[in-house]
Amino acid sequence: MKYVRDMPFKEFVDSHHKAVDEDLADLRRSNEDDSVPLIFTETEEILGLLIGLTHPSKILEIGTAHGYSSLFFAKKLPDARITTIERNPVMAEYAGAEFASREEGERIDFRFGDAEGILDKLVEDLSDADDSEKFDFVFIDAAKSHYREFFEAAEKICTGNALIVCDNILLNGWILEADGKDAKRHRTSIKYMKKFLEYLRQRDDLEVTILTGADGLAIIRFINEKQR
Ligand SMILES: C[S@@+](CC[C@H](N)C(=O)[O-])C[C@H]1O[C@@H](n2cnc3c(N)ncnc32)[C@H](O)[C@@H]1O
Repeated sequence: MKYVRDMPFKEFVDSHHKAVDEDLADLRRSNEDDSVPLIFTETEEILGLLIGLTHPSKILEIGTAHGYSSLFFAKKLPDARITTIERNPVMAEYAGAEFASREEGERIDFRFGDAEGILDKLVEDLSDADDSEKFDFVFIDAAKSHYREFFEAAEKICTGNALIVCDNILLNGWILEADGKDAKRHRTSIKYMKKFLEYLRQRDDLEVTILTGADGLAIIRFINEKQR
């Protein structure tokens, strides 16, 4: 099995990638040098296209790491507000410092803790909210076995025309491994990611676009947006 990050296509796409600015290019380089997880350049470009077309004003991100993708959203959309969630204290410390050292960080509402608890609180806080307070773009990029829980919470606090984008649905290629070392080591993520994709497929109220570029993305929208 050829894994996504080894594919010659990645190098090809990287060589054509244009960073939003020098600051973000430096942050990508330092994240990559330190093996900090962050979105592939191809994922960044797809996200850029989607937010460029839909102009979200409130973005929810689950999985901050060092804050690269949050800063990407904030730089691309100068009027948007971003709420981002991270549970790892070391990652959170770095992300907090990255946000504090930039003007864009003022529009980033950084929540430290496990996404499940933080999402419960957001659902409670936004239960009577109108669309102007809800999220119109959601990016799910955290624990791969919990995408369904993240998705079900996110859909309660987003607008009818929101897009929900889930990263890494190919799990670095492991999703197609029937057996072998990687299939065993990642069996929980594989099992839950497959269940999540099947769950999405069974929902008649969703339009789900699966892309196999980068590490795979699911882009989800609500078909009857007016009824939500
Ligand atoms: C792939 S990284 C995020 C990368 C980031 N979106 C970027 O592109 O810069 C995933 C992050 O999600 C965090 N995470 C995983 N499960 C989580 C959970 N249940 N709650 C909050 N954060 C979680 C991990 O600690 C990790 O830092």
